[in-house]
Amino acid sequence: MSEYLPGLAGVPATKSNISDIDGEKGILAYRGYPIEQLARHSSFEETCLLLLDGRLPTGAELDLFDQQLRENRRVKYHIRGLMKNLPESGHPMGMLQTAVASLGMFYPAKECLIGGDACEDLNYIHNTTVKIIARMATMVAMWEHIRNGYDPVTPRPDLSYAENFLYMFTGRKPDPMLARILDVCLILHAEHTINASTFSVLVNGSTLANPYSVIAAAIGALSGPLHGGANQRVVGMLKEIGTPDRAEEYVDRKLSNKEVIWGMGHREYQTKDPRATILQKLVDELVEARGGDVNPMFEVAKQVEIICEDRLAEKGVYANVDFYSGILYSEMGIPADQFTAIFAIARSAGWLAHWREQLADNRIFRPTQVYIGEPMRDYVPIAQR
Ligand code: COA
Repeated sequence: MSEYLPGLAGVPATKSNISDIDGEKGILAYRGYPIEQLARHSSFEETCLLLLDGRLPTGAELDLFDQQLRENRRVKYHIRGLMKNLPESGHPMGMLQTAVASLGMFYPAKECLIGGDACEDLNYIHNTTVKIIARMATMVAMWEHIRNGYDPVTPRPDLSYAENFLYMFTGRKPDPMLARILDVCLILHAEHTINASTFSVLVNGSTLANPYSVIAAAIGALSGPLHGGANQRVVGMLKEIGTPDRAEEYVDRKLSNKEVIWGMGHREYQTKDPRATILQKLVDELVEARGGDVNPMFEVAKQVEIICEDRLAEKGVYANVDFYSGILYSEMGIPADQFTAIFAIARSAGWLAHWREQLADNRIFRPTQVYIGEPMRDYVPIAQR
């Protein structure tokens, strides 16, 4: 009998050439390209193609993909109707899971993977991928208006992916610096090897289920507090601390109560998460560009990180990607409960790359178990129990 490892910790679930992490050195690379270079030079649109196709696109390939994304931003009137009927108090991740799953009702059998034929059909895979990546941003932005009782803002095909999302979300053409920061955030969240949500893509994809239900399952996995969602808590924590001079007392109190500091620590990294380093630089740039006129949370965050480094570095606990992303999203006017939905929008690229990789060499997942129940026994009639 093979050894049972809770959570499959350390058990390879697949072979993949999409991304790689070196947790000791603090390196993350997509298709061999370091995340720092992608954050500096790439765009979310280009990073999607890199993840999906395995290579940097030519100018013509990127233009075509970008055009396809722009043309696929609108969602059907019925989806909008469905969203309007959801309770406005519901969490955005619940809305997103429902809305993405419902797309499968509108793009059914003809495009479905019946018989597995689509495993060979790269056009089908590409077209579905475009629909999902383009529409997830639309649906998250639409929800912000619908849940507040307004009509959603119509997408604009002349704007980039990040610009259009912020435009649809806030109703205003975004500040170019904030749009670029969002673009970098999307790049940084687009992929991160095999985690719970990506594993669910492999499992669901391996049954040849409709891709919309594959991505809906991944959204469900990401919605759990042990996976997505820490950045929402970071913002709550920074607000609670309030001013930088209260950071030390707060951190020490939490640590002595054996509570976690949100946005600190990562199972894969024993050093600072490279994505947090990039986001921290963006925070500094934004503070400088605004002449220091930013939300007080920025200063509180910096002080919390300094204190945590002093108290937690010996345990290999440093800031993770969630530590700075939330405050940047807040600066864009995005409420905290939407942060995980933005994570999902970005991660759709990685999920779909893994879906495609799974289909290319598919075998249905069917793990085994270690049975720890009763031995064989005879049925007892109800009158004798
Ligand atoms: N705050 C305070 N202490 C922390 C900590 C944090 N955020 N993260 C880890 N530690 C401490 C643990 O208490 C433990 O201390 P001990 O050895 O004295 O018991 C030690 O560091 C090792 O932590 P462990 O829980 O074994 O690490 P893990 O790899 O199992 O957990 C996380 C990783 C992400 C679950 C954990 O760091 C965490 O809960 N972080 C906060 C939530 C968060 O930001 N999640 C987003 C991840 S992207």
